[in-house]
Amino acid sequence: MKILAVETSCDDTGIAILEASQKGDFKVLSNIVSSQIEVHKKYGGVYPALAKREHQKNLVPTLIEALKKSGFLRVNEQKSKNKNLKIKTILEREPELYKKIIPFLQKYEKPDVDLIAVTNGPGLEPCLWVGVNFAKVLSYFWDIPIVPVNHIESHILVNYLKNKKINFPAISLVVSGGHTQLILIKKMGSYKILGETRDDAAGECFDKAAKILGLSYPGGQIISEFASKKLGRMTSQFLPRPMISTKDYDFSFSGLKTAVLYHHRKQPAKIQKSKKYIQEMCAEIQQAIIDVLLKKTIKSAKDYKVKTIILGGGVSANKELRKQFQNKINKEIKNTLFFVPKPDLSTDNGLMTAITGYFHRNQKIGRSDLPKLKADGNLRIK
Ligand code: KG4
Ligand code: ZN
Repeated sequence: MKILAVETSCDDTGIAILEASQKGDFKVLSNIVSSQIEVHKKYGGVYPALAKREHQKNLVPTLIEALKKSGFLRVNEQKSKNKNLKIKTILEREPELYKKIIPFLQKYEKPDVDLIAVTNGPGLEPCLWVGVNFAKVLSYFWDIPIVPVNHIESHILVNYLKNKKINFPAISLVVSGGHTQLILIKKMGSYKILGETRDDAAGECFDKAAKILGLSYPGGQIISEFASKKLGRMTSQFLPRPMISTKDYDFSFSGLKTAVLYHHRKQPAKIQKSKKYIQEMCAEIQQAIIDVLLKKTIKSAKDYKVKTIILGGGVSANKELRKQFQNKINKEIKNTLFFVPKPDLSTDNGLMTAITGYFHRNQKIGRSDLPKLKADGNLRIK
């Protein structure tokens, strides 16, 4: 079967087309991500209203690119039946998208796709709605069923692309710009959140710390680049590791961000601008975040005697974090499998949505049930 997936939960517009064989082998036909980084950079963070506008602009061109790459973009010889009125109702709140989608639907043929998967939460609700309504229009116009997909589950299941043998129970650490959760997976599709952040997410901490240091957005990758250039070993830990020794599996990163702010403010202006200082700060911020994530994940893995550890989410693209997880697992829990996506699949993309849609293909809904499909910014994995 072929699945077309739509992902708009934050600031990336992702469209992918995935082919799954009867045996469940995957072939990626296309995975196109249109990033909004340049738009949000000026503000040092994501503005939902701006992000919603960008998704409206980017969805149709991203879909065209994905269809072209998959060999599915064919000009329609016959004019499609007029369904504009219904589409206008679905896209009542997305007028810019409406203007772009009508000429697209009139011009091109229905692609050879069996299912549409769309992220319906969690995430920024205005952004989620654009993706959901876009998927509804495609579903309605082409008469293809839809399956709604949980974004956190997608960050976990993207690992199935390369690793079909996940041994259960497994533990997954999902660390992104919006979430930091430790999730116990008893068996495929059965999740329990053991702990999560009480305030800022780990990615948010990277982004806010970068802003304090005058670095650009998103901060995670920039901090990791500066950190990797630091010479010599760290001599002292000068930032806190919040909640590192608590017995629960929760996290807290807002105190770390505040500590970065106070430490930075105390430095003379000349030091604040020096490369050596920035490199040391970045290395320490990164290490503080890794220390907490690593300690709590290994603790949960031992407590629950898990057989697999799975990472996902934008922060799992961090090279140093991946390396330190691998080393720790090799040393302390040798027989545990360790899976982490390729860096470009750690951050948001449509392929993760397609894979998750495949696993939930039996929960698809048809045309008559489309009005029931809603976006939910606070959707929980279960
Ligand atoms: O999963 P994602 O693309 O979007 C959300 O669902 O939030 O994650 C984005 C987050 C940002 O906070 C970004 O700074 C962080 O992932 N990130 C990184 C790295 N690459 C992206 N954090 C640390 N190291 C990286 N290399
Ligand atoms: Zn994400």
